[in-house]
Amino acid sequence: MSFRQKHLLGIEPLHPTEITAILDLADRYVELNRQANKHADALTGLTQINMFFENSTRTQASFELAGKRLGADVMNMAMQASSLKKGETLIDTALTLNAMHPDLLVVRHPHSGAVDLLAQKVNCAVLNAGDGRHEHPTQALLDALTIRRAKGRLHRLNIAICGDIAHSRVARSNIILLGKMENRVRLVGPPTLMPTGIADFGVEVYDDMREGLRDVDVVMMLRLQKERMDGGFIPSEREYFHRFGLDAEKLSFAKDDAIVMHPGPMNRGVEIDGTIADDINRSVIQEQVEMGVAVRMAAMDLLARNLRAAREADQGVMA
Ligand code: NCD
Repeated sequence: MSFRQKHLLGIEPLHPTEITAILDLADRYVELNRQANKHADALTGLTQINMFFENSTRTQASFELAGKRLGADVMNMAMQASSLKKGETLIDTALTLNAMHPDLLVVRHPHSGAVDLLAQKVNCAVLNAGDGRHEHPTQALLDALTIRRAKGRLHRLNIAICGDIAHSRVARSNIILLGKMENRVRLVGPPTLMPTGIADFGVEVYDDMREGLRDVDVVMMLRLQKERMDGGFIPSEREYFHRFGLDAEKLSFAKDDAIVMHPGPMNRGVEIDGTIADDINRSVIQEQVEMGVAVRMAAMDLLARNLRAAREADQGVMA
């Protein structure tokens, strides 16, 4: 078995063969999702709880649909409205939920590391749906699947990740994944939006879009994460669009067949021109959403297999 993880907390712990195992299975789920009957039984009998401590539309919907298509009982907890407001700690919330015997916990949290902490306190599989600026593994996996299907491979590609790198868990997970699969990653954006310690990432850094996009195969745009900024990062949105927003002129520096990606939600006219985002010959933004459901089905299926195997082994020891 090529996927050995108990949780999916980040891309960091994954071996390249594990990444490939998820993507290969996800390819099969893409086919299933295009059928009239989209049901499979990989998660039948299991309970999936989605705990989102931060707003989310597409990621939560994607995980919910993925679980339901595989036969799980899926429950969404609106964490902002609930016990957190009453002062309960993350750990108490986790222990309370754990007592309800979930099998899969999908967690999004504003603090980096919170999901890892929670995973140590529960006895089910935990999937990180985004923690602070740290990781967003299923986003990087769905991006990888989108690239692999569009380009026919996931190695030796030139990929530019552009914009607000400093605040982006999407960028971080993608840099790690694309590096593990032996691609050349460039980061393009203003120095104020580059993370500290960038030299350790094994990437090339540009503060000019035209230079940064020259001859790349993939242009990955990021949302300007205003909610994570405390002012002073960019002069104005208009100025930002002028220098770093993706439009046809800047895109013309990339390869003729370069694809354009964005994890959503988009700020049209800030980091990306709406006509580029909607150009079906260049933009794969809708494909990314489609791949998201399939990748989450694959990840939960593989984790559930390991969970069942571990429980059977435990029962064997007790017998
Ligand atoms: C991303 C996130 O939440 O990190 N969005 C997503 O998962 N679809 C990126 C973002 O918020 O800009």
